[in-house]
Amino acid sequence: MSHFLDLADLQGEDLRHLLDAGAARKAARAGLPKGAVDADAPLAGHVLAMIFEKPSTRTRLSFDLGMRQLGGQTMVLNQSDMQLGRGESISDTAQVISRFADVAMLRTGPHETLSELARHAQIPVINGLTAHSHPCQIVADLMTFEEHKGRLNGQRLAWLGDGNNVAVSFVHAAALLDFELALAVPDSFAVPPAEIEAARAKGAKITLCETAEAAATGASALITDCWVSMSDDPATAEKRAASFAPYQVTQALMDLGDDPIFLHCLPAYRDSEVSAQVMDGPRSVVFDEAENRAHAQKAVLLYCMGKLHA
Ligand code: CP
Ligand code: NVA
Repeated sequence: MSHFLDLADLQGEDLRHLLDAGAARKAARAGLPKGAVDADAPLAGHVLAMIFEKPSTRTRLSFDLGMRQLGGQTMVLNQSDMQLGRGESISDTAQVISRFADVAMLRTGPHETLSELARHAQIPVINGLTAHSHPCQIVADLMTFEEHKGRLNGQRLAWLGDGNNVAVSFVHAAALLDFELALAVPDSFAVPPAEIEAARAKGAKITLCETAEAAATGASALITDCWVSMSDDPATAEKRAASFAPYQVTQALMDLGDDPIFLHCLPAYRDSEVSAQVMDGPRSVVFDEAENRAHAQKAVLLYCMGKLHA
């Protein structure tokens, strides 16, 4: 059994296997109705419990559908409906869930909540997003990149805007696979320097750029995210918008890339972090990216259950 808490815990070959398994399982079920179970039903008889302490559309949909396609079943637990919301401890919750489910996914704010759940659970725990990181998203993003642009090796991906949880997981991924990550992030919203140092120590090729234009030049993908994340104070929205405005992904920025695709984990806010023209334009693959959450999540579930290679 393996938890899936951060890409920083993985080896390069683990991420490679996740990307390959996601793509292979997607291809194998092409043309089937969405609810049809994969021919091998590898998680038949298994139950996934999903705990949501924050809102979600894609993570909820993709884990629920993905687990069903693997032959398993799902239980959705929203914090407001649980005793967790009334002060029951994470550790007791972890032990109880371990008696009812075979694998658990948590979306929460503090990363420590996730770590504590994993510490006390007797089943694998998956990070469905914390304020610190969003590893499941990056498996889907890199899978989507390879679908459209071929193998990652030697390619340049540009991240523009907030050095947030999604950016941190991209930094972790850059330490595992052979691509260059160009970051254009204002100083006051930088990816924590310790994350960059740790990734570089493992061989990550990370370029810190002064401007969005510098990062976009020669990139095969331009990637951004919302300017105010779920764990950010909404009162900072105005200050954030002023800082991030020069990093908006526009057509002019796309034109600097190497026939780039546009990626965004969604939800997106048109004409804030990305112009409507780019978001709805021909180089935007954001809905492929959203779909690939399901295929990627299936690979993550198999990894956790020790069945990725089965
Ligand atoms: N990208 C993503 O995680 O979307 P949700 O917040 O809708 O789950
Ligand atoms: N950075 C965003 C990602 C949403 C999927 C957030 O944490 O709200």
